[in-house]
Amino acid sequence: MKIKIGILTLSDRASEGAYEDKSGPAIKAVLDEWITSEREYIYEVIPDEFELIKERLINMVDNLGCNLVLTTGGTGPAVRDVTPEATEAVCEKMMPGFGELMRAASLKFVPTAILSRQTAGIRGRALIVNLPGQPKAIRECLEPIFPSIPYCIDLIEGAYIETDENVMKVFRPKQKKIS
Ligand code: MTE
Repeated sequence: MKIKIGILTLSDRASEGAYEDKSGPAIKAVLDEWITSEREYIYEVIPDEFELIKERLINMVDNLGCNLVLTTGGTGPAVRDVTPEATEAVCEKMMPGFGELMRAASLKFVPTAILSRQTAGIRGRALIVNLPGQPKAIRECLEPIFPSIPYCIDLIEGAYIETDENVMKVFRPKQKKIS
């Protein structure tokens, strides 16, 4: 089964064309390096608007069938940063471990890692994960959490994700044998 992956960039300025979005393409580049399964990306750049973010997340999951949605930007403390709130508003279950691990791992790179309120959650058969807006944060955050993502998507009955083990080894607990 082909995996559909949503990439949603939240940035007022990039959505106006004031600068080019580098973080969305960085997400695709990293995933292309790791994932070997057949995949399709759905990519959008939108402003930091709570209702719009909710609407686009719902569309990616419910209408377009994404099993994984990665957002970038809007996770900080500024007034316009509302990505975690919009994520929580559309999710049935929150997965706080993803944010905890990304923040902890990011502290090795930047002391301001704690300024990101990035989180993750489940909507239907999709895992939604927030990444910070800095292009260099993409790999810094995805590297520590990605080993858990394919199994998380197995558990919610999404597409089976396979990776190139030389560059990204994922973890799936051994199947229990029924005797
Ligand atoms: N995490 C990583 N790995 N690398 C970074 O450069 N930048 C931090 C933090 N987390 C950063 C990071 C900074 S400076 C901010 S303000 C917050 O993410 C929020 O960023 P955002 O509002 O663009 O999502």
